[in-house]
Amino acid sequence: MTTTGSRWNDSSMVERMSSNRGRRYPPEFWAFFDATVRPRIGDAPAIADFGCGPGLLLLDLAGRLPDSTLRGVDVSNAMLENARALDFPGGAPTYVQHDLNTAPYPVEDGSLDLCITANVACFLDNPLVLLGEVRRMLRPGGGYLLFDWRRQALADYIENRGGLGDDPTSMMGLQPFHNRFTMDEWKWLLAEGGFEVAGEAQPRVSHVAIASVPR
Ligand SMILES: C[S@@+](CC[C@H](N)C(=O)[O-])C[C@H]1O[C@@H](n2cnc3c(N)ncnc32)[C@H](O)[C@@H]1O
Repeated sequence: MTTTGSRWNDSSMVERMSSNRGRRYPPEFWAFFDATVRPRIGDAPAIADFGCGPGLLLLDLAGRLPDSTLRGVDVSNAMLENARALDFPGGAPTYVQHDLNTAPYPVEDGSLDLCITANVACFLDNPLVLLGEVRRMLRPGGGYLLFDWRRQALADYIENRGGLGDDPTSMMGLQPFHNRFTMDEWKWLLAEGGFEVAGEAQPRVSHVAIASVPR
């Protein structure tokens, strides 16, 4: 199961990712981040957002952690183009184009305090490849924040997702990815990947957030 690169290069996807930022990262997400993730990473952490899309999570992180060093990785040219055009008052993140299905990722061993994937791991052929790379790239004491979809009954998925325009069933092509793992299955994957859960939440009814550290 692979999503094609062209899907992520479609300008309507970039627009969609950019236009509904408030809904996609609600206050509950940031409350979880502030309570569970931020206390572990200090004031000047090195953070990488894998599958950074149009760069808006990085922009929010730059606002919250102005002394952080930020990096964005994505497979899509169109997403990276959008990210590069954003105005980061303290200096732009470093961006790299890379397919997360392929290891190694272009990041040095032990160089990151925090790895984030948001709405991305569900699209990867084998999330354990990602987890192996996250372990390699984290510094001692570093952590991983997974924010992703959880499996729901189809009617709930459609109701909670919202479609494009007036059609709530539009973009059904993503449903098998979004509905791939339950909270317990995400935690099972993290355990298999050598991670211990440090905190969990459901910031959106359709999503899980799990903070974890290497075991
Ligand atoms: C649903 S978007 C999420 C974007 C962003 N993380 C957010 O939450 O706003 C999924 C992103 O993952 C990227 N992506 C999907 N598969 C990927 C892969 N195999 N390697 C790298 N990036 C990938 C897409 O290009 C897209 O930017």
